Amino acid sequence: MSKTDEISQIEDDFATLAALAVGPTPESVRLMLAKLVRRYRITHPALAGRLGDALRTSQTRTAGHAVLRKASTSLMGNEDQLPVDADSRNSLIRIFDDLGGLDAPLLTPELQQGIDAIVRERKNRKRLESHGIPPTRSAILVGPPGVGKTLSARWIAFQLGKPLWVLDLTTVMSSLLGKTGSNLRAVFDHAKANEAILLLDEVDAIAKRRSDEADVGELKRLVTAILQEVDAWPATGLLLAATNHPELVDPALWRRFDHTFRFDTPVPELTEAAIRRFFRGSQEAFEEVIPLLSLALEGVSLSDVEKVVASLRRRALLENTDPVDLAMPLATEFAHKLDKKQRLVLALRLAKSLLPHETIRALTGVSRDTIRKYAGPSPVRAGRERRNEWQLDSS
Ligand SMILES: Nc1ncnc2c1ncn2[C@@H]1O[C@H](COP(=O)(O)OP(=O)(O)O)[C@@H](O)[C@H]1O
Ligand SMILES: [Mg+2]
Repeated sequence: MSKTDEISQIEDDFATLAALAVGPTPESVRLMLAKLVRRYRITHPALAGRLGDALRTSQTRTAGHAVLRKASTSLMGNEDQLPVDADSRNSLIRIFDDLGGLDAPLLTPELQQGIDAIVRERKNRKRLESHGIPPTRSAILVGPPGVGKTLSARWIAFQLGKPLWVLDLTTVMSSLLGKTGSNLRAVFDHAKANEAILLLDEVDAIAKRRSDEADVGELKRLVTAILQEVDAWPATGLLLAATNHPELVDPALWRRFDHTFRFDTPVPELTEAAIRRFFRGSQEAFEEVIPLLSLALEGVSLSDVEKVVASLRRRALLENTDPVDLAMPLATEFAHKLDKKQRLVLALRLAKSLLPHETIRALTGVSRDTIRKYAGPSPVRAGRERRNEWQLDSS
């Protein structure tokens, strides 16, 4: 490559990275970084090193959970035994240690049963085996981001009194070219020896590399290595995988998992249950607006619901604002998307939740007379006059 080509390549990469950095998906930045680390490793080792540092920092930060630690402390015993990438000396495994306590994920009954069944099987593994019945060894968790895949894996581990080991494949992929296979083996060997619950997070990261033609040979070796490891996974441990992009996962890999758990965007009942849970403590103050919020947040990932609720709680406390005033703009945004008939349905639903008719009218544009006609008189709400800031355009 000529010097000019090289510079224009770097310019391109720089611009792409900038575009991704201001975009909505931090994950794409990490994938791009991983790719750049590989691209510049030989020609610009110092640059590759700095990009690699950035990638690793981003991983610790996005993980950002109090109980999440680099796999280096007491729980797993000897630090030296944990598999690390030979060159970066960085741990390839992250550990969720929820043994201090964890709320059950909010799931559909069907999913809940499937997950309970896995836990029951693990707890009764010896009994099953004494009857010649193999327990479930592996499962793949599929669904959009923020719906509880990682949380469910943590929950399973917690139920079994074990920490969850997470192998983030983006990290593995960014480790030295040609060593990915051996890194992977090191992790699996260690996990098997410890009868661990191992989660392969973002398994689709392997597939995403296909666009990177320089690495085709390496990719094939890696896929082969993973397939062999999944095949050889012993019944003593539990192997989980998670992906937001099932369409990118190699069918040969997919087939090897005993079970598939499908996580969908939350159904309304789950959204409401999640809102209640996330309001913990301040739920009472918000009771009246929970139905409004449930509507406004329908179909939103529970991880985002959690963020909205946290922000409302902070604002209610610091700005000393009426929760209804805080929730209304969200709900209004939602109501604007509805047609006239849907608004009537919404108005009557809200009337059942004992929201004052004036608030409902402001939100839905349905007249108080109409609401009263179907739902009876407005509940008395002591001492607080609702303002009409949320008047719906009469469209
Ligand atoms: N089903 C759920 N039940 C309870 N909390 C959830 C659920 N889904 C997401 N959350 C909240 O959002 C956070 C991120 O969810 P996570 O399990 O990491 O999503 P995923 O792995 O599907 O992208 C969780 O730690 C939890 O606080
Ligand atoms: Mg996850």
